[in-house]
Amino acid sequence: MIKNDLLLKALRGESVERPPVWMMRQAGRYLPDFMKLKEKYNFFTRCRTPELATEITVMPIRQIGPDAAILFSDILVIPQAMNIEVEMKPGVGPWLPNPVRTMEGVNQVNVPDVHEELQYVFDAIKMTKQELNDEVPLIGFAGSPWTILCYTVQGQGSKNFDLAKKFCFTNPEAAHILLQKITDTTIAYLKAKVAAGVDVVQLFDSWGGMLSPVDYQTFSWQYMQQIIDALKDEVPVIAYGKGCWFALKEMSESGAAALGVDWTCTPRNARYLSGGKITLQGNFDPARLYSPPSEIKKMVNQMINEFGKDAYIANLGHGILPDIPVENARAFVDAVKEYRG
Ligand code: CP3
Repeated sequence: MIKNDLLLKALRGESVERPPVWMMRQAGRYLPDFMKLKEKYNFFTRCRTPELATEITVMPIRQIGPDAAILFSDILVIPQAMNIEVEMKPGVGPWLPNPVRTMEGVNQVNVPDVHEELQYVFDAIKMTKQELNDEVPLIGFAGSPWTILCYTVQGQGSKNFDLAKKFCFTNPEAAHILLQKITDTTIAYLKAKVAAGVDVVQLFDSWGGMLSPVDYQTFSWQYMQQIIDALKDEVPVIAYGKGCWFALKEMSESGAAALGVDWTCTPRNARYLSGGKITLQGNFDPARLYSPPSEIKKMVNQMINEFGKDAYIANLGHGILPDIPVENARAFVDAVKEYRG
């Protein structure tokens, strides 16, 4: 049923002619047509209006040609649905006016009925599926509970999420209650996304690498594992952890269909640490898309040779940067499509 099923094949570990390719954060940011919509509608209006979310999701498919679409939305719709105010300030990024930093704060956080609070996401999925007409699979996503806690406690982006860590280490009881509430909401949310039609889900643990390996188990991984356990029989799950190479062994035994890795780990080491069998996704340095297209193409070939064409999904090691020239993004995708081992 899905015409281009390269991604699904790679997730099942089946042999492919060339690896599938998509780019984290491919919907929006660097695309001129997205910038035009951005002038007219604020961020959460774009997320909440299924017609706009659909248009933005499909844009890179038509203009760049990756093998999968990722729904335009944000990981922060989850805290929003849990009774935590979240704004997106132009030039600043996420802004939470009332960060959660006490047990009293945690007690005010809801585990909502996702159909009441997030129906607009499920409507956007249905509309996007229609628009895509089964050309490529649609990826749904959520942030990891730890990454969501980072914003919920810090109140904004940060280089080190020091306040989030301080909260976890001074008030672990409250932190674990909050993490469990986020986990429960995320499981219900992702199940509803699958019911609405997404073909794959990805968990973004963008700030997992802020934690020591021991704290990673305690404050991030055990909650990721709960989500994978709840979803893995319904849908392939990709677990992406930025800076989490130290956890690849544990992650490879989790039931996730694939693991996302960033550019600080060599393909060879990622294969070694993850046991050599599980599908890996990554890991081009997003800043390398500033290089000229000819160099991008050379480096992409090298990357595929190092990972191997099978059990592999070509991607960046983190989200695409906002000022990447469109032709460089296209060179990345084309290089994978032209790959002939
Ligand atoms: O391909 C896609 O873009 C799909 C949609 C998507 C967005 N955010 C749209 C968005 C996805 C998958 C995300 C995930 C996300 N959001 C993560 C995890 C992935 C990662 O990059 O680490 C995180 C940490 C966030 C939180 C967030 N949202 C930040 C830090 C920012 C501001 C800075 C930035 O990246 O531009 C956002 C805003 C946001 N989310 C934008 C987009 C396209 C840009 C703002 C805008 O369009 O007005």
